[in-house]
Formats: sequence, C-alpha cells, structure tokens
Amino acid sequence: MKIKPFFYDVTLRDGNQALKKPWNLEQKEKVFKTLLDIEVHGIEVGFASASEMDFNACSHLASIAPDKVSISSLSRANLKEIEISWQAIQKAKCPRIHIVYPVSKFAIENILQIPYKEVLKNAINAISYAKKISNGKASIQFSGEHFGDSRENVEFVINLFQEVVKAGADVVNLPNTVERYRPFEFVEMVRLVVKSLPQSVVSVHTHNDLGMATATTVESFFAGAVQLETALNGLGERAGNTNFFEVACALQNCGVDVDLNFSSFYRSAKLVSELSGIPIPEKAPIIGEDVFSHRSGIHQDGVAKTIHQSKNAYGAFNPDMIGRAEGHQISFTSQSGRKAVQYILKEMGISVSEGEAKMLQPIFKQFSEKSGGELNQEEIMEAYYFLKNEPKTLG
Ligand code: KIV
Ligand code: ZN
Repeated sequence: MKIKPFFYDVTLRDGNQALKKPWNLEQKEKVFKTLLDIEVHGIEVGFASASEMDFNACSHLASIAPDKVSISSLSRANLKEIEISWQAIQKAKCPRIHIVYPVSKFAIENILQIPYKEVLKNAINAISYAKKISNGKASIQFSGEHFGDSRENVEFVINLFQEVVKAGADVVNLPNTVERYRPFEFVEMVRLVVKSLPQSVVSVHTHNDLGMATATTVESFFAGAVQLETALNGLGERAGNTNFFEVACALQNCGVDVDLNFSSFYRSAKLVSELSGIPIPEKAPIIGEDVFSHRSGIHQDGVAKTIHQSKNAYGAFNPDMIGRAEGHQISFTSQSGRKAVQYILKEMGISVSEGEAKMLQPIFKQFSEKSGGELNQEEIMEAYYFLKNEPKTLG
C-alpha cells in the first residue's frame, strides 16, 4: 500500500506567533475553517498557555473540530503548560498534546544549561505526565527542538526519542528550527530516526531561513517522515515555516497520493494574506499573481500548443487544479510572438489566421514599445484595427 502524507498545519500556532498582530478568535476561526475546506489532517490551534486569548481560541476551535481532524496545542516540557494544553483541547474528538523540548548540543549547553541526563529525564517526565492526565484520550507528540542542529549529538537525540516513545509519545517530530545546513544532511538524519523508531510516526517541521524548506520537507517524506508540518502561505517565525501549498503540489507532481482538497488552495491563500496583512509576492510559487503568465514568444508558443494537455510545456501543473479559474495567461509585450497575437485575439472572440498574425505581430510590437510594456485589451484592439484600418470597437 502506498503511504499518504499526513499534513499537520501550524499556521494558527507558528504562523500566528510570528504575526505583528496575532489573530483574535474570529480571525483564527476563519483560518481554521479554510484549513477544514482544504481538508488538512491535523491542525495545531495554538499555544494555550501563551495568553487567555489563545487558550480561549484553542478551546473553541477544539470544540468545533470535525471527527477525524487531529487538534493540538503546544506546550513546553513544563507540567503546568501541559495541563493547560490538555484543558484547552480536550473537547476535540481527536486531541493531541504537543510537547517541545530542545535536544541539540548547542541548545542544551547554552539555553537549558543542564546536564544531558536531566534533559532526558525532563523529556520522559513531560511525556509520562501528558499520558497520565489525558488518560489515553489524547495522542502525544514530542518535538526535539533544534533537531536539525543536532549533528554533534545525534546519538543522544535518537536515544532520547526512543525513551520518549517508551514513555508514551505517539509522534516524534523533527524540527529544523533554524535552517542552517544542507537539506541532504537533514534528510539523512531523518532517515536515521525513521530506522531507529520503526513503530512510531515520524514528522518533520522545517523553517525557511535559507529558502530550502520545501525541498527539505518533500525529501523527508521520501526518507520516511509521514507527518509533514507546514503553514499556509509559509507564514511563521523569521523567513517562515515550510509552505503548505508548495509541499502539497510538489508531492502531487511526484505521483504521491495527496489527500487534500486542492481546488480551495488559491482561495485559502488569498484569505490568509488578507487576514495576516502579508501580501503574496507576485512571483511566489503556486499562489503568486504572475506565476501563470507567459510573455516571451518561445514560451507562449509552447503554452498555446500544449494548453489542452495534462502536462504543459511551461507550467508545472494546471492552474485549475488549485482553483485558479483564470488559467494560463498569455499577454503581449515587445518580447512576444505571433502565437500570442493569435491566442489573445481568440480569447477576445477574434479568429485570425497564421498569416494575419504574422502581419499583426510587428504592429503589436510597435504599440507595445510605444506604451512601454504589456498591452491591455484596448491597446490590442487599437493595434488590430490599425492594420485592418477599421474603427475600433470592443467585443
Ligand atoms: O520550530 C520549532 O522548533 C517549533 C517546535 C515547537 C516544533 O516550532
Ligand atoms: Zn517552528
């Protein structure tokens, strides 16, 4: 049987905690509903002990969560925080207590400043406590913070993971808390953990400090990590978390069975941008305004010739797939060829032959050079009727 990725979304926790103005309950609920629309498999709804507002949001979202969607609140390895998390999410049908604790040599020596054996003991105690208070009703996730920075003490980290699993952790999450090194090295460490924990669910949670988070997460899936933690629009601390849309589309392209509602991706991306006040860059993969526009002659020719095929010469996937109804866009600039002339006029209801398009192209080009860029519909008509020597009418 082929393994399907389990998408665990952290927009409402990691994404929210990095916003200049964290979301209120109403805004969180809108994001939550869009995540349900997308049919994600798990949602981290917040950090319940961070504030009363976050506690209330976690508890409300847990109470309206559907049956099969896993719902978690984050806590540090601190008994009080674990208890608050449990109180906040226990109304969910599928609750999860998520505990994070640093594991890298650097973080242990510089942040925790305690001996290794104490780190191990604290991690085990935290998991045992979560197990005890939830009385078998919650799944337990342990995150080894700074896992990606644990090259020097990876043996200790793997042993710690084995011990937290014995204490009751169901999911072991491997964060690249700060992306510092090669995706390859992270993925090799993931492979090692997967081999050492044959009975557990291994998860990855990567950040995008060097811009390689999507690659790291995608390759981690192929190395055996089944749960993938991502955020809508790549929101999150610093350069953000791994972008949900990019990982989902990349895996889908690779033939992986991705169980999500792709058709609501674009709508969700726009909503999250609006609610966060963070604009989507024009060139952002998948969701950027301009990423299905084609302006050069060679590309326009390839797009037009393959537009009705499942694989487009210059498109990684069909924009329809993610709910971008406008599809591929071909526009005319001084770099465009006659295929663009034919295509654009056809979209406007005017059929021209190859020969006519060949004659029109230099006129369009002149118009484009004069207007300084992409021709709008009116300019297209003007250029067209200039050659035809007829009065300009639209439509
Ligand atoms: O980046 C990180 O290490 C985290 C953990 C809480 C998983 O967000
Ligand atoms: Zn994170």
